[in-house]
Amino acid sequence: MDYRILAVGDVVGESGLSCLRRNLGQLKKSLQADFCIVNGENASLRGLTPDQGEEMLYAGADVITLGNHAFQQRNILSYLDDCKQILRPYNFAPQTPGRGWDTFDCKGAKIAVVNLIGRHNMDFAPDNPFTKMDTLLPQVEGCMTFIDFHAESTSEKLAMGYMLDGKVSAVFGTHTHVPTADARVLPKGTGYVTDLGMTGPAESVLGIRAEQSIQMFRGGLTSRFEAAPGKCVLNAVLFTIDSETKLCKKAERVDFHD
Ligand SMILES: [Fe+2]
Ligand SMILES: [Fe+2]
Repeated sequence: MDYRILAVGDVVGESGLSCLRRNLGQLKKSLQADFCIVNGENASLRGLTPDQGEEMLYAGADVITLGNHAFQQRNILSYLDDCKQILRPYNFAPQTPGRGWDTFDCKGAKIAVVNLIGRHNMDFAPDNPFTKMDTLLPQVEGCMTFIDFHAESTSEKLAMGYMLDGKVSAVFGTHTHVPTADARVLPKGTGYVTDLGMTGPAESVLGIRAEQSIQMFRGGLTSRFEAAPGKCVLNAVLFTIDSETKLCKKAERVDFHD
């Protein structure tokens, strides 16, 4: 028997959230997905509120992962402690609210989900995600294990994929909001993609109005970033996992246009 796990890219703004709400249930049904991990760090563009977290769970997310914007909406802090289904990066300082990994039930099987953040080109000094995984791996033995590696650089994400090849079910990247074309199974059986992409406005720069981004890169003063108008795209990857080996048989892109 196989398990089918859907991983969905960063939800951007109210329109991204609305796209998720309207489409995720049907998408899970048509893909026969058993479990769904959604990165929710941009529902408020910077961060998310507890209400937005609840909406994602209601829409069909089984676990919400985050990233560099995890703590930007301050009313999320107690929610991170109270809600079991939301994770912030595991390699943030241990005194920060919430948790970075947990195990969940997936149709009778145990699934571990881990959220990590990268260190290349990020304004953070988190713990080393690679050595943190060394200490975590024994604790997830016997589980299907999925890693959301929220990182900027493609090399850092690829290195994590190869380090964990054969040891976890899948490693998927988030944060860049741009889907990559390298969804595949690595040589020792771990599913991999460098970046899922996003769930947000299709005609935009990472979900933001293009003219604001152009203005910023031209050196102008920028107004507060706003989500772009228009239809959304939902970028995801479906991983098919062998229930015996817990390794990946297939990693397929699912790019849905609203
Ligand atoms: Fe991010
Ligand atoms: Fe993001």
